[in-house]
Amino acid sequence: MKKLVFLTGAGMSAESGISTFRDSGGLWEQYPVQQVASIEGYWANPELVIQFYNDRRKQLLDVKPCEGHRLVAEMESAYDVTVITQNVDNLHEVAGSSKVIHLHGELMKATSTKNPNDPNCIVTLSPPNLDIKMGQKAKDGSQLRPFIVWFGESVPMIEPAIEEVQKADILVVIGTSLNVYPAAGLLAYANSHCKIYLIDPAEVKFDPSLGITHIKKGASAGMEELKGLLC
Ligand code: APR
Repeated sequence: MKKLVFLTGAGMSAESGISTFRDSGGLWEQYPVQQVASIEGYWANPELVIQFYNDRRKQLLDVKPCEGHRLVAEMESAYDVTVITQNVDNLHEVAGSSKVIHLHGELMKATSTKNPNDPNCIVTLSPPNLDIKMGQKAKDGSQLRPFIVWFGESVPMIEPAIEEVQKADILVVIGTSLNVYPAAGLLAYANSHCKIYLIDPAEVKFDPSLGITHIKKGASAGMEELKGLLC
């Protein structure tokens, strides 16, 4: 089977009702990103940051995968698929994708403040215990925190993601402004025979030498068109 790799961003979940970050009305217009999505912001006010992610986690209960998520999962019938996502929602998994690499963490998980990437400290949150509380401890005795990669922290999953892109026959980028590194740098690891598609209704800045085919549509309509091209 040919290897098909997806790189998705907030636009993938926009049609599920989850707001993006940098579109007009996006999350970073409503909240100061340094205050709620950086390691310095967490040190300065852990309670505010923990509450910010408690609120976003609760919203996940009311959203469903969009047709785009479903079509991404459906491609597994014809390709060896890996989804690399910058999103912290679990909508690719809920839609049925079986191999998902989360570069920026997972909203439904929590971890240790002291050792955030210690697998023994990572726990999955589920109703009715979705909220992380101040004073709640991880296995190593430090404050439990969201399992999110904040600005200023390393991206441990970037290495496995690079390996997947290097092996890709086809790379499909959906719903990311390609503003944030190292995620945006993954395109440079595509090998010379890899065909690259970009699904995004807006203009996105990318290296013109990569020969990218831009499907200027939303995630669901774009995946419909891509399915016609690939299957
Ligand atoms: N379908 C597809 N793409 C869409 C849709 C849609 N319905 N609606 C918007 N988009 C596109 C926008 O045009 C934009 O290019 O989705 C992209 C969203 O870009 P950002 O808001 O910057 O989100 P993203 O690229 O995922 O941000 C990367 O930044 O703050 C960090 O950790 C956060 O993972 C996030 C990272």
